[in-house]
Amino acid sequence: MTAGFSDLDAFLPRLEAIPLLDAAALEAEEIALLGRKSGALTGALKAVATLPVDERKRYGAAVNQLKGRFEAAFAARRAALDEERKRREQAALDLSMPPRRRWVGAEHPVTRVVDEIVEIFRALGFAVAVGPEIETEWFNFLALNFPPEHPAMDMHDTLYVDAPPAAGEPAGRLLMRTHTSPVQIRTLLASPPPVRVVIPGMVYRNDAFDASHSPVFSQIEGLAVDEGISFVDLKATLVHFAHRFFSPSTRTRFRPSYFPFTEPSAEMDVECQLCHGSGCPACKGTGWMEILGCGMVHPVVLENCNLDSERYTGWAFGMGPHRITMLRYRLPDIRLLLEGDMRFLSQLGGPGGGG
Ligand code: PHE
Repeated sequence: MTAGFSDLDAFLPRLEAIPLLDAAALEAEEIALLGRKSGALTGALKAVATLPVDERKRYGAAVNQLKGRFEAAFAARRAALDEERKRREQAALDLSMPPRRRWVGAEHPVTRVVDEIVEIFRALGFAVAVGPEIETEWFNFLALNFPPEHPAMDMHDTLYVDAPPAAGEPAGRLLMRTHTSPVQIRTLLASPPPVRVVIPGMVYRNDAFDASHSPVFSQIEGLAVDEGISFVDLKATLVHFAHRFFSPSTRTRFRPSYFPFTEPSAEMDVECQLCHGSGCPACKGTGWMEILGCGMVHPVVLENCNLDSERYTGWAFGMGPHRITMLRYRLPDIRLLLEGDMRFLSQLGGPGGGG
């Protein structure tokens, strides 16, 4: 299609060449033809005004039409170049590369065991209480009826913290708590009976770090204080717990023991989860495994919490979720549960693993 004017027709080869231009040439050509100051077609358009009236109309229409064809050609080429560039970029992606698998986190096995224990007691009406890991001597020892210098404290050697107790706390030295039992005191001072709580948390002792010990480990404490609570409640509740946690046929036994804050005191054993009672190396041939210490709350402890020990009685227990987790998964070494080694943890499953 010619423009009908020879000077305009001279532009037509350039129109036909547009689909062959690369991006830089396209931009240069667009400026050369349509640039507002010195574009060739812009110049032709400006010349329209100087023509005699009868020519002005026809020539003007022809220039405008040609300008439209150039504009359309430039736009079409630009779109085609864009398209080409996108195609090239996509071809550069190597879609055969395997994606990096996402890591799905999982609860630590000890956390899962604590949750399971809490759930069993929650169903019996127990709430959860927690307390500070840095304690005063009074909560950790004295209020719990440890006489000063008592040999029972030898097992509770710990780190002392060189700072004064916070305002409102009893005077005395601060230490890394050696058990969760101080939270018994905090709970009884904070709310009058009936009290039924379980108390999970970390505790600290001057212990070796070997297959069966760690200077940092978990405990979960239980406490029930009310009118008319007896050893029958203690025993029935803890046997129920063992049946729920291990299996309904798991046998249990209570052996007399000693804790300053309970009287009488006992240790509870469950039948060995490996040999089920016949005796094996894991239970040192006894057929039993100790899982917790327990007893009736000592009257002195109740009095230290401003409770009338003639009116109220209670029972308490303390066990070690790290130990219980070892029993549950038959682990030979407690350090597996403290070192955070993914090669081990991902074997214990949960939603986790991955990587
Ligand atoms: N606090 C004791 C310990 O750490 C365990 C315990 C708790 C015993 C409650 C009896 C009652 O050894």
